[in-house]
Amino acid sequence: MNIRNILAKVRKGAALSAGEIRTFSNGLADGSVSDVQAAAFSMAVCIHGLSEEERIGLTLSMRDSGEIRSWDLPGPVIDKHSTGGIGDNTSLILAPALAACGGFVPMVSGRGLGHTGGTLDKLESIPGYQAEVSTERFEQVVGGVGCAIIGAGKGIAPADKRLYAIRDFTGTVDSIDLITSSILSKKLAAGLQALVLDVKVGSGAFLSKFDEAQALAQSLVRVANGAGCRTMALLTDMNEPLAESVGNALEVKSALKILRNEPGEERLRKVSLALGSKLMASSGLAENERSAEKKLLESLATGRAAEIFGKMVTELGGPADLLEKSEKYLPKPKVILEYQAKSSGFITESDGRILGEALIELGGGRRKFDESLDHSVGLDRIVRLDSSVKAGDSLMRICAADENTARRVASLLDKAFVFSDQPMKSSELIMQTISYDQ
Ligand code: URA
Repeated sequence: MNIRNILAKVRKGAALSAGEIRTFSNGLADGSVSDVQAAAFSMAVCIHGLSEEERIGLTLSMRDSGEIRSWDLPGPVIDKHSTGGIGDNTSLILAPALAACGGFVPMVSGRGLGHTGGTLDKLESIPGYQAEVSTERFEQVVGGVGCAIIGAGKGIAPADKRLYAIRDFTGTVDSIDLITSSILSKKLAAGLQALVLDVKVGSGAFLSKFDEAQALAQSLVRVANGAGCRTMALLTDMNEPLAESVGNALEVKSALKILRNEPGEERLRKVSLALGSKLMASSGLAENERSAEKKLLESLATGRAAEIFGKMVTELGGPADLLEKSEKYLPKPKVILEYQAKSSGFITESDGRILGEALIELGGGRRKFDESLDHSVGLDRIVRLDSSVKAGDSLMRICAADENTARRVASLLDKAFVFSDQPMKSSELIMQTISYDQ
């Protein structure tokens, strides 16, 4: 099959067969499709779109372009994926909590890029944590502990790795068809039986508009189920950070709060429980969502989830006493500056994109793939939307490497908040559930 003929068909918007799509994906992985051809393909798909069948074909063929895991474990192999937000650290809670409830979670995660954070960056604020491990080690930790959170490495979905990089250069990232296949090819390579997706909506999300996020959620759910993985999605609010802090070590701290069953972090707890309950009910780990939530709460109350998190960290190179001595291990910022309200009133907007940009400016997030991070910096004790504040009240603490950066970030933050006389009509935290039949 000739790549030029395949491209001519995509250009006209004609349907590609599963075989043609597979040829193209194999060519991406082995280099026989050139960068120019990959760019032409992405652009044509952006313009004409793909049918559901083609999206499933692209997902499966990109999945099959690299290593695929298969498991023989005494419980369901399950995972969750978030489309990305700020202060979004549910993975750190859910992986061990689901493992404590009998699931096995081989979580392949990414690093942050742009204003949204990445799970691996958060975990790498723990000294010694190794996110890049061999397949054998990954399998050992998942089988022995119940969960492991690692990076995708070179072996997983190399066709997607190449296409994603070319999309980044050619302004073709924003295609629901391509995003769906890209996310799912990597996730499904982990050999999952069930998956739950957290599709974020709002100023701190990859997609800020509800309709767009809903369309992505529907596409992801249909394609994942069509590819043989039982999947549902929650659309959740990202008009403010999910956790009360943004930044790598700071977000590990907020996850540890929940794992230790301490009070606070109610939004983070609520979304984690909702995602976990859906996944447990759909994978057969619980009879229904209510009993799933009970089991998850028990795993937190008994300390079992915390114990599993600690074991995972130790097995992947981190300290054995992180949970007891997190203050000793997690990096601390050199400078802390209180950021004060400029006006009085109800906070009716807390622009997530600006908070994410502030983290990049502090050195805790990246604009380019290869940038290294300062894990100690971030924003802490962030005021919640709809809080009533007086001018001069603290809206958050800026945790920085030096005074100058802290002051620069403070002036960036001046544009993040809107103050009003009236409280806002706040949006629901969990906005919608998308299951296969929708
Ligand atoms: N994340 C991915 O892995 N792929 C995309 O295309 C967009 C977000």
